[in-house]
Amino acid sequence: MHIKNILVTGANSGISYQTALTLAKQGHHVIIHGRNEQKVNIAVNEIREQSGNENIDSVIADLSLMTDVKQLADHIKGKYGYLDTLVNNAGSQMGKERLVTAEDHEKTMAINTFAPLLLSKLLLPLLTQSPDGRIITVSSASYNQGTSDQYLDDIELEHNYGFGRAYGLSKLYVLWLMWHLNNELQEKGIKNVTINCMEPGSALTKLGSEQAKNRPLWMKILIVLWLPMIRNPKTPGQTNAWLATSNEVRGLTGMFFDSKGRIQKENRKYYSLENDQRLWDYCMKVCAPFLK
Ligand SMILES: NC(=O)c1ccc[n+]([C@@H]2O[C@H](COP(=O)([O-])OP(=O)(O)OC[C@H]3O[C@@H](n4cnc5c(N)ncnc54)[C@H](OP(=O)(O)O)[C@@H]3O)[C@@H](O)[C@H]2O)c1
Repeated sequence: MHIKNILVTGANSGISYQTALTLAKQGHHVIIHGRNEQKVNIAVNEIREQSGNENIDSVIADLSLMTDVKQLADHIKGKYGYLDTLVNNAGSQMGKERLVTAEDHEKTMAINTFAPLLLSKLLLPLLTQSPDGRIITVSSASYNQGTSDQYLDDIELEHNYGFGRAYGLSKLYVLWLMWHLNNELQEKGIKNVTINCMEPGSALTKLGSEQAKNRPLWMKILIVLWLPMIRNPKTPGQTNAWLATSNEVRGLTGMFFDSKGRIQKENRKYYSLENDQRLWDYCMKVCAPFLK
């Protein structure tokens, strides 16, 4: 078996933890990313113990800060000669008040949208060193929540912030950005790196728990009503691991998978080439200082 180098972001908990555990059990070299060293160390020890695989590394970075995303990419580039798969799984939900990072970006967009784009761009040179480089980005069914293209005038929701809107749009935008990046690779003739997205369905995890107290009342009620429908994160976690390594999906690119690994047709109702370019230009402006 070819042992792959795989970076999984947000792997100390939830869906990503399950992804990392599955990959570790398959014998791959897994790099566990998280933002909290203590939580990451616990996850690494558990994964080593449960998988019997000692070839597990870790890396710490707060993905709400583009400076940290750059440091994370530099660390990976300095330590490993190539990367087979990047799983962009870390994500978060904020509360009813708009929060901004120390770099002055709306926090949901920074973590869920700008960070996966910047990390993917920065790690592309390492992924192209692999014969079968893959980027998998976790979106959400929430991408399909109501919006309209007027928000492209206010991508970071300075004037139109709403808890659900920020999360839904961050997951819509990251899809568009990944398709855009995929188109760029195709145009450049880069055939050995694929870019796919997945949506994990509803899984019982700690998503957004940091801001749980600040959730709007409707969300608190919805979570209680929704609880019986929420599944174990194992299924989407294993699907991510399958997307990361399986020969069944080798060469497939620009796809959107569901939690069971079925290709779905995403709702393109808000998409247009013009909107795509406006979003891309905005996000590239955010990323530009870190891509030099
Ligand atoms: N659970 C669901 O029903 C569901 C549905 C649709 C989509 N998703 C998506 O699935 C992905 C995984 O989420 P999950 O449900 O497994 O939640 P989770 O258990 O909270 O895992 C999220 C991971 O992301 C990390 N993270 C959050 N903010 C970060 C930051 N600023 N910098 C670095 N890492 C950060 C978390 O670290 P900490 O442990 O330190 O907080 C954690 O490791 C997310 O992208 C989420 O949007 C989940």
